[in-house]
Amino acid sequence: MDEIQLLKNKNVVLGVTGGIAAYKVVDLTSRLVKAGALVDVIMTEAATRFVGPITFQALTHRPVVTEMFSMYQETKIGHVSLGQRADIMIIAPTTANTLAKLAGGFADNMLTTTALACRAPVLLAPAMETGMWQNAATRANVDVLRQRGMILIGPEEGRLASGGSGAGRMIEPPQILEACRWLLGRKGPLAGRRVIVTAGGTRESLDPVRFIGNRSSGKMGFALALAARDRGAQVILIHGPVQTSTAYGVKKVPVQTADQMHAAVLESMGQGDILIMAAAVADYRPASSARQKIKKSQDSLSIELVRTADILQAVASRRNADSRLQLTVGFAAETEDLLKNARKKLAEKKLDLIVANDISATDSGFAVDNNRVTILDADGQDIALPLLSKREVAEKIMDCVAAKLKKMNRKNAKPVGTSGCE
Ligand code: CTP
Repeated sequence: MDEIQLLKNKNVVLGVTGGIAAYKVVDLTSRLVKAGALVDVIMTEAATRFVGPITFQALTHRPVVTEMFSMYQETKIGHVSLGQRADIMIIAPTTANTLAKLAGGFADNMLTTTALACRAPVLLAPAMETGMWQNAATRANVDVLRQRGMILIGPEEGRLASGGSGAGRMIEPPQILEACRWLLGRKGPLAGRRVIVTAGGTRESLDPVRFIGNRSSGKMGFALALAARDRGAQVILIHGPVQTSTAYGVKKVPVQTADQMHAAVLESMGQGDILIMAAAVADYRPASSARQKIKKSQDSLSIELVRTADILQAVASRRNADSRLQLTVGFAAETEDLLKNARKKLAEKKLDLIVANDISATDSGFAVDNNRVTILDADGQDIALPLLSKREVAEKIMDCVAAKLKKMNRKNAKPVGTSGCE
């Protein structure tokens, strides 16, 4: 397990309609099953021309529904039973034709009938030619479905079945899965909460070509943003330049420099209940950035560096009784005296929790997928975690954050740092 088990034992109804992207839905099915979901596949007649029902049956170990009347074998409730017991319904790919039928409320096959009877959230992943996607009829259908609360994800730009390229390509299965997690987590322990997360390193410009940066990959911060999202939070992720930047359901604010991150955090601070500073923020920046490329010469080169603002300290000094912010979490990246240094930062930056991170270890820390951390609470408690994937570490940190917030609110205690993780 490397993430919260949102899909475990969830009833997922997966509708497949007749488009070439149906072959990708085989991969989606496999991912859903691996995540522990109980997947019932319903295929339209056209879908069966692209992929055989037996493929889905082999993956899900459940019968695939292709005909309306086959469900009458299922005693009392027949054709509406799947929709009624679903925790989520996904229709992927959703063709223009099925989109139109859904908008019109049609129930002319098992898939549209189930969608109409479904009380769970419905997630649509449209796929079609660009012309069909841009057609006024499809635009109107999309608007109607969104207004009724259906969630549409994609399509994206890319190569299409016709050989051309444009908008209409079905979004990839990993993103559909992320959208599912977001939908299923909406009522989680952080529902209604706003969480601000910072991630990655900052870059301080020396000239138009060069910068001073650090080795942070942003993986820890992105994992935290997803873990907060999966618990129902609205998440703002302020991040420096990073390589992987997909985070479905998370509002991303890209920045480059420490100053820009500082401004972005202060701007969003008023809207946040929780701030998690996982970013590796530059403590110094060049006193000036050359307008032209610095040319080499025979002389040595010195660069004057000046201090940047400490963002957490600025947040602490602005926090007041009116502030919505209830909980701040910092990270301590250390190469020596890990716990001593971390506890010092916890006190100086007036944090509720600090995650101490030994970055001298080769198997954890910066730029790798794993991390070994200790979570220190302002009330004196320590939780030492073993070597885990960053996603697992993020889950543990968010469990701790959610538990601490709950305790603080239960006690109705405003003083920060009076309770530990459960
Ligand atoms: N931090 C910050 N603003 C800065 C530098 C750091 O808000 N200008 C935050 C980091 O995001 C982290 C915490 O402060 O949550 C500790 O960062 P770290 O780099 O470990 O420590 P510093 O405070 O920069 O101290 P030092 O570099 O001397 O260890």
